[in-house]
Amino acid sequence: MKIAPSILAANFARLLDDVRRVEEAGADYLHIDVMDGHFVPNITVGPLVVSALRPYSRLFFDVHLMIEDPDRYLEPFAEAGADLITVHVEACRHLHRTLCRIREKGVKAGVALNPATPPEALSYLWGLFDLVLVMTVNPGFGGQAFIPQVVPKIRRIREMMEKEGVRAEIQVDGGIGPANARLVVQAGATVLVAGTAIFGAADPEGAIKSLRLAAERRE
Ligand code: DX5
Ligand code: ZN
Repeated sequence: MKIAPSILAANFARLLDDVRRVEEAGADYLHIDVMDGHFVPNITVGPLVVSALRPYSRLFFDVHLMIEDPDRYLEPFAEAGADLITVHVEACRHLHRTLCRIREKGVKAGVALNPATPPEALSYLWGLFDLVLVMTVNPGFGGQAFIPQVVPKIRRIREMMEKEGVRAEIQVDGGIGPANARLVVQAGATVLVAGTAIFGAADPEGAIKSLRLAAERRE
């Protein structure tokens, strides 16, 4: 089980300090939310911020593109130092080609599904991605409430992957915290994104620990 703090909830005036804190506290990925004001209402950061952080962190840079026509920006994010680039199925006209292009750049490929997008969107793409991102809120903002209706979809994707003999991470993103970590992990999630639950806490180090404990708790 991996933990991916989302910088969306970090303090951007001292972003590097926040990144270092979670890195030292044992985070596995650094989740970087990129929003363009079109695919989602909000606007966040671009490749410039990824390349600025890159020399100062050894964390796995997990870049979540919530942008229209992400093909235009694969090269700049790969050059900036992304380890994984995740695109939304709802934003790609030629998803198969986009996933192949990400891997051609030597970067891991991720595919994201909005809450209302069915798991069948992954059919015919088996073997072409390293991670599936199951959105557990509608993308665009941090601090939203977890959507419980998505849990059966996580389970379904896990079953489909087993049937197809595909190995990939299942990442959940949105409203994740100690209260639902066990639920999503039991359904099959292997990477937990958390923004507010980590950076919104007075003690982000302790918050990572509590999230890990909650996710791994045996009843
Ligand atoms: C939502 C973003 C998430 C968000 C998670 O559009 O993709 O990564 O930062 O934030 P919390 O954990 O606060 O829901
Ligand atoms: Zn995200």
